[in-house]
Order: sequence, then structure tokens, then C-alpha cells
Amino acid sequence: MTSKVLYATLAVLITFSCSQEEKTESTTITKAWWKEEIVYQIYPRSFKDTNGDGIGDLKGIIEELNYIQSLGVTAVWLNPIYSSPNADNGYDVSDYRGIMNEFGTMEDFDLMLAGIHKRGIKLIMDVVVNHSSDEHPWFQQSRSSRDNPYRDYYHWWPAEKGKPNYRYSLFDEQGDAWQYDSLTNSYYLHYFAAKQPDLKWENPKVRQEVYDIMRFWADKGVDGFRLDAFQFVAKDTTYPKFPDGFEKDFIQYYAMQPGIHDYLREMNTEVFSKYKVMSVAEGAGRNFEDAHDLVDEVRKELNMAYAFEGVDIAKPEGYDLVHFKKVFTKWDSAFAHDGWLSIFLANHDQARLVSRFGNDSPEFRDHSAKMLNTFILSMRGTPYCYYGDELGMTNIGFERIEQYQDIAAINGYKKMLNEGGDVEKYTRDLKFSSRDNGRTPMQWDETLNAGFTSATPWLPANPNHVTLNVKQQQEDPNSVLNHFRKLTALRKAEPVLVYGAYDIVQREHPTVYAYTRTLEDRKVLVLLNFSVSESKIDLPQITIGKFWINNYDDLRREGDTILLQPYQAVIVEVD
Ligand code: GLC
Ligand code: CA
Repeated sequence: MTSKVLYATLAVLITFSCSQEEKTESTTITKAWWKEEIVYQIYPRSFKDTNGDGIGDLKGIIEELNYIQSLGVTAVWLNPIYSSPNADNGYDVSDYRGIMNEFGTMEDFDLMLAGIHKRGIKLIMDVVVNHSSDEHPWFQQSRSSRDNPYRDYYHWWPAEKGKPNYRYSLFDEQGDAWQYDSLTNSYYLHYFAAKQPDLKWENPKVRQEVYDIMRFWADKGVDGFRLDAFQFVAKDTTYPKFPDGFEKDFIQYYAMQPGIHDYLREMNTEVFSKYKVMSVAEGAGRNFEDAHDLVDEVRKELNMAYAFEGVDIAKPEGYDLVHFKKVFTKWDSAFAHDGWLSIFLANHDQARLVSRFGNDSPEFRDHSAKMLNTFILSMRGTPYCYYGDELGMTNIGFERIEQYQDIAAINGYKKMLNEGGDVEKYTRDLKFSSRDNGRTPMQWDETLNAGFTSATPWLPANPNHVTLNVKQQQEDPNSVLNHFRKLTALRKAEPVLVYGAYDIVQREHPTVYAYTRTLEDRKVLVLLNFSVSESKIDLPQITIGKFWINNYDDLRREGDTILLQPYQAVIVEVD
């Protein structure tokens, strides 16, 4: 498939006007290279195995660089590839300058980076520095004695003072973020698993270590950093008591605590300002003000952040499209003039896009996957596309807890049992939302294990790889994959899709998400039917011009009414 944009030949003339409230704003957005990127996220463990151990590796990524290039993406974000005992699949780093044995060697990394750059693609690395592994030498030193020089690299509480005030842990079996360590009769803090002790950012030595690590990778030529769980790094080291039940809304207590902006400005001075690198934080704080403070250009902190509100909407029982539209519209308008966001509906912490927001039945899977990719690639903000979503990969849907590998699922299960929770409900929810759904092997072809490995894969391939795979979609001009390629080609060719003002049309429409993007004299209308049924939308006085995208052969209309077929997605030029 060439990267040429295919325009539908159909020319329909309809006229339309936006309702009063939905006026077009003029855009004042400044241009920047990182706003124009299209990021493809690779979970290396699941992408391609080349040495037959059932685990994806860097050589596997190298083998597939032509495929990655063929997607039309401009940057790759890799989940952590550093040395790690893998309590949380690399999000527990034991050497920030080493490559995980299972993934390969530094030589492989250098080859991979050169191959990525040769194809005009950028590389973004995950930086996991809210915490390290408990096997990191810093922690080994730190726990060894109370007067060790590394003691103050982590958060310790001497047990003779009694139990520290309760802190909630996201991954702990008891939900308790304080772990007792008998070696020094003290507790250490871990917001995630006990094997992920939190680094003490209040210690300037820790911060300098981190900047040094980041410069190490920037000197190698990487093009950006994704800061993992960064909104949690600043902590009140008197560890005051939080109100009872705070864990239900822990973000309000954990995110963006005093000091974080100083750390980010320092990081900017020490690292970002010295290289041509982009920066993105996981989490956008507690509110818009926090988010702005992270990314407003004048503040010289970060380029962009991920806000979770949108991705959190999907629930096993479904979701309300009007609410979905409201959330994305609200976030867009808050950043219409200053600052910049990421656009995403999936990543390695989520189940599959099409299973959560679309319809993964064989009948509607392809259309709904194309529709969701059309959304991501036509919104304002830097789009992030998760590996496999370019094919419409779906949830594997495990039935039993023994099938899971994810520490969040396993320890969450234990916690639920400890608390006498509802096993059946927990298992049902997990089947829909577990992170392992989004981590199954990339589906390359119809053979055993989807062409991912010749061995037993670390997580089984989804049985639907027999009909849902790269090989088969390459050949089909109407595949989800080739639709994705059309979208990336369009986004690169048409600045209106990057910088254009976003205006929602008929915000209360229950099943159609319609919006325009406008830049100077260019204006496009995006129509997305989020429903399994046909949807009607009245658009009087609109003149529809050239079709840029259509996941059906035609666009039906009756007078001023457009009839969208199930999960139909259209981008058209309008006057
Ligand atoms: C972030 C990562 C997630 C990881 C956690 C702890 O949320 O995206 O995968 O488990 O941080 O590092
Ligand atoms: Ca391997």
C-alpha cells in the first residue's frame, strides 16, 4: 500500500451551518515538531521474539522496522527496556543504563536506534523514576544501614516511631504502601508494588542521578522521554495523615505535590534544554490548572501530558457518548491556545481499544476499529497509537485468575480476597479491563503463536490471530491496517489535522461524534458513528467537498439528513 491518500470519488453536495453556540475559534497555536509527531507505542515484550524464548526482543523490533515505517508513524515510544527483575514488566528498573537481558544487548539497542533514525523515525524512551526496583544497587545500599550514604535515596520511616500514617499502594496485596524491612527496623514507601520502592525526589542527589541517566540516553541520540508516574514524585516527607478514605481519590493527595514544578524546571534546564528532545508526562495532575502548569510553553517544564479522564470512561457496562464527547471537548478547549496534550484511547495499562470503545464482534470489529483510529488521528493533540490497534486487535478475555501475568491483576485479586470481595465480579471486570488484554503477542500471521515466537509465548496469542493479522491485512486494501496508513498519510500532509481549531457539532447527539477542524481556509468535517445501528444527523446548509476518509463505500443521505452506517467514519472537506 502506498502512502498516497485515496480520495473517495463520491461528491455529495449538502449545505450546513453550525449551531450558534459552536462558533469557530481562531487558532493561535504555535508550531512545534513534537506537535506534528504520530507516536507508535511498542510493548517490546510482546512485539516479536527472535531467539525462541517466548519473549519479544530488540532484534524483533529491528526485524520489523520496515513494517513500522510502512505505518506512516513518525516516532516510536518503547516501554522500558532497562535491566529489570520484571516484577512489573520493566517498570522496576535495576540498572537505568543497561538493557534487560531478555531484550538483548546495548549493541542491539544501538543498531535499533540507527535503524529507526535511518527511516526518519524518532525514538522516545520510558523513564521510570518515581521508583526503582528493590534490586537496584541504590536500594540495596539504602536498606543496608541507616547511615548508608544511599539511605536518603528512598523514603524510610523508623519503626520505633510507630507505624507511619497510612499510604495507599496501587499494586500491594494489602493496599499498604509502607513495607516493613527488618534489616534496619524501618518501613519504606512504595506507591506501586513492594518491589518498586519510591525514590526520594526531595534529595538533590537523586535528581542529579536521574538527569545524568537521561543525558546518557540523550547523548546516544534518543529523541524524547515519557516520564512514568511522574506526577507522584514530590512528597511531603513528614508523611502527614490523610483523611480516612482518601485512597478512593488518591490522585488528589498524591499528584502534583509542592516541589514538582521546581524539579521539572530543573530537569528542563539540566536535560531538555540541552537536546532536541520531546517530553511527555504520564498523568496531567488533579485539574486543568495542574495540567497547564505542566505544559504551558512559557513555563519551560514539559511539552505535553496524558490526561486519563478520556481513557477512563470505558466500563464493562458500556459508556455514554455524550459524556465522552464532553470530556474530549473540555480538554481540547482548555488547551486551545496554550499548552498541548496527547490523544490516546489505549496503551499498555489498558485493555484493547476496540473492545473498550468499539465493538469487537467479528461483524463490527473492523469498522469500529477504523472509526476509533479516525478519531485519534483527527483530533488536536499528539496522537499515540498502541501496537496492534492499527489492526484492530481485541481483548483476549481470560476467564481465570491463573491466566494472568500482570502484577496489578494478581495482587489486586489477593487484595480483593483479603477484603472478602466478590470474586466473580472481580474476575468479570478483569476480563474486560485487565492490562494483559493489551499485552498479548502482536499478530503477524495466521500460524501458531501468530508468528510472534516459535516457542511458548509469555502470554498466549489471541486465538483470533488466525483471521486477524498483519499478513492478511497487508493484502486487503480495505483492512484496518490500510485505513490506519491512510490516516497517518493524511495527518502528515494536512496541517489542519494537527493545528486546526476543533469545534464540536451537535454536542448532544447521542450516537454521532461530529466536529470540524479549521485552519485558515481549510475546513474538514469529521463524522463518527459510535453506534452499532445506523445513525442520522441533520446537517442543513453544508457543502461537502472532497472525501478524505470513509470506512464505507458511500455516504447515504436524505435531503439534509446524513445516514451513517454502523461505526461509519468520514472525514470530508466542507466550506
Ligand atoms: C505507570 C506505567 C505502568 C506501571 C506503573 C508503575 O502507570 O504506565 O505500566 O505499572 O507506572 O511503574
Ligand atoms: Ca526473545
